[in-house]
Amino acid sequence: MLDTQSILDVLKPVQDPELQKSLVELNMIRNVAVEGGNVSFTLVLTTPACPLREFIVEDCKKAVQTLPGVTSVNVDVTSETPQQQPSLPDQNSVAGAKNIIAVSSGKGGVGKSTVAVNIAVALAQTGAKVGLLDADIYGPNVPTMLGLENTEVQVEKNPAGDILQPAFNYGVKMVSMGFLIDPDQPVIWRGPMLNGIIRQFLYQVNWGELDYLVVDMPPGTGDAQLTMAQAVPMAGAIIVTTPQTVSLQDARRGLKMFEQLGVNVLGIVENMSYFIPPDAPERSYDLFGSGGGEKTSKELQVPLLGCIPLEIALREGGDHGVPIVMSAPESASAKALTAIAQNIAGKVSVAALA
Ligand SMILES: Nc1ncnc2c1ncn2[C@@H]1O[C@H](COP(=O)(O)OP(=O)(O)OP(=O)(O)O)[C@@H](O)[C@H]1O
Ligand SMILES: [Mg+2]
Repeated sequence: MLDTQSILDVLKPVQDPELQKSLVELNMIRNVAVEGGNVSFTLVLTTPACPLREFIVEDCKKAVQTLPGVTSVNVDVTSETPQQQPSLPDQNSVAGAKNIIAVSSGKGGVGKSTVAVNIAVALAQTGAKVGLLDADIYGPNVPTMLGLENTEVQVEKNPAGDILQPAFNYGVKMVSMGFLIDPDQPVIWRGPMLNGIIRQFLYQVNWGELDYLVVDMPPGTGDAQLTMAQAVPMAGAIIVTTPQTVSLQDARRGLKMFEQLGVNVLGIVENMSYFIPPDAPERSYDLFGSGGGEKTSKELQVPLLGCIPLEIALREGGDHGVPIVMSAPESASAKALTAIAQNIAGKVSVAALA
C-alpha cells in the first residue's frame, strides 16, 4: 500500500552525505503526498549552496521508485539554513544572522579580502541571503572589491543608537569603515575603540535576515579577532594561507588563536597555490612549491577547503570591483572559490546541527 509512511520508510536509509544522517531523521523530507502512483515531497536542504543537491535528489528518487506501484516521483528542493547557537554566556547573536563566518589569516596580504568577497558573492549566487562585514578597520578594501567604492550609506537616527543601512551589490549586503571615513585618511585608533566599531557593525546595522554573515578580518591575531570571538557565536573561522613556509607558520598561529578562543576552525584555504598564465590557461606553474596547505591541514587536523590559483584576472576583478565569480565564473580561480564557498556552507551546517 502506497502511503506517506511507506514513502518515509523507504527514504529512511538515504543519508545527507555531509551530515551522514538519515534525511528522514533530520526532518529534511516534508509534505509527502501520494496520488495514485504519483509521489511528491519537499527536500529541505541545510544550505542553498549544497553542491550535492542533484545526487541527493537522485538517491531519493531511486529509493522511492523501488516501491511497487510508483509511476512518478516529484521532488521540490528548498533550504533552511540552521542557526548557530551562542556558546558563551556574554555572547549576543546578531538578530536575523544565522551563521557568522570569519575569514582570517596570521599573515597580511595572503588574499583574505579576495576570498571573503568572492565566497560571499558565490554564496549569494546560490540564493543564500548574505552579508559581508569588513572588520579591517585600518585598511578597508572591501568597498573597492565589491564595486561600492563611492557609496554613501544612510544612517537612521534612533534613540537607542543609530542604525546603519548596509550597502548592496551582487546580492551581498555590506558595511565597512571605508564608508565612514575619507579613503585617503589613515585610521589611527586604539584597541577599545576598534572593539566599539566592530560591535556597531554587528549590532547597529540593518542586516535583516541572513543565512551567512562573512567577516573579512584584518591580518594577525589581535583585537578584532578577540572582539569577534567574545561578542558573537561564530559558525567558524576559515584560515587563508599561501604555500610559502612563513605563511604556513603564521596560519598555524592563527589557528591556535581561534582554538584558544573556542572558535571552531572550519578549515584552511590555500591561496596563490599555482600560477595560471593568461596566455596559456591550460598550463600551471607551482611558484612556491606544492602541497603546503595539504600538509598543514593534515598536521593540524583541519580540513583543506580548497586551493586557489594565482590568476591575473582575480586581482583585476578585485581592483575593478567585479569579483571573479561574477565576471568569469568559468575561470579556474572562480571555480575554486565557488567550490570553497559550497564546502564552507556544508561545514557550517554540520557545525550548527552538531
Ligand atoms: N589568487 C590570486 N591571484 C591573483 N591575485 C591575487 C590572488 N589572491 C589575492 N590576490 C591579490 O593580492 C593582493 C592582496 O590580496 P587581499 O587584499 O585579498 O589580501 P588580504 O589578506 O586581505 O590583505 P590584508 O592583510 O592587507 O588585508 C590583492 O591585490 C589581490 O587582488
Ligand atoms: Mg584584507
